[in-house]
Amino acid sequence: MKGIILAGGAGSRLYPLTLVASKQLQPVYDKPMVYYPLTTLIEGGIKEICLISTPHDLPRFKQLLGDGSRFGITLEYREQAKPEGIAQAFLIAEKFIGQDPVTLILGDNIFYGGDSFQRAFGEFKTGATIFGYHVNDPERYGVVEFDTQGKAVSIEEKPQSPKSNYAVPGLYIFDNEVLNVVKNLKPSARGELEITAVNVEYLRRGTLRVHRLPRGFAWLDAGTSSSLHEASAYVQTIEKRAGVKIGCPEEAAFRQGIVSLAQLEAIVGQIPNCEYRTYLDQEVIAEAKRLQN
Ligand code: G1P
Repeated sequence: MKGIILAGGAGSRLYPLTLVASKQLQPVYDKPMVYYPLTTLIEGGIKEICLISTPHDLPRFKQLLGDGSRFGITLEYREQAKPEGIAQAFLIAEKFIGQDPVTLILGDNIFYGGDSFQRAFGEFKTGATIFGYHVNDPERYGVVEFDTQGKAVSIEEKPQSPKSNYAVPGLYIFDNEVLNVVKNLKPSARGELEITAVNVEYLRRGTLRVHRLPRGFAWLDAGTSSSLHEASAYVQTIEKRAGVKIGCPEEAAFRQGIVSLAQLEAIVGQIPNCEYRTYLDQEVIAEAKRLQN
């Protein structure tokens, strides 16, 4: 399974924050936003990842994440020259995807809790798997409607009158057929290749699965100033209460076994003295050593 992180867009709703750094580089409490979707992919066992962003912002992401080796993964970068839709990501990354299935995650989607994604990755064979999450403002998202048997019957992008409260979060798993689906798509009225149109095509073919995410699961949006602040507050609350970090890719890589304890110690040795280092050092590494003895 390949992974794509799409971190494009102008971030105009966060102006003036986004004048110098793109939305996905903004802090969500104690780390850059993109750390959270990156961690979600690593926790899902995805080791080959391609990050797509604007020509203007791509150098910053390279500076932040490098070649991925400190997270035990390989990271490639591609440009999206113009914001021509989420589904365009598959065309931009066509060579990177090769013959494999692919998970696309949006760089501003923050997920926390449970193992719904890990299970979906493990079970995935063909077709497409997407998710439904109950929200109070479905008109801002792709919206999925279910019949009385719980089967998905329609998906609409930002409908004025949503047919349900189930929004489609920005994590999508597709088989390699997605490349053909996208190549046959026509741009929408706003001139974009819509991810919802891809999902609708899989639904039409009868190969779309929609898993409803459980109540205990958190999907946070960080696209406006107040939702960014709320996401930060949420992360801070959980981290403080539980003494664990959300969205820590070094920790995720270590727990996945793709970075060894010795490698993690070397990586942490490069981090300046700060809370992030103290966490990795005194919680993750110290705990692993305790368990070894
Ligand atoms: C996009 C998709 C939408 C999806 C949402 C998830 O919307 O078009 O279907 O529900 O991401 O974050 P956007 O964030 O581009 O408005």
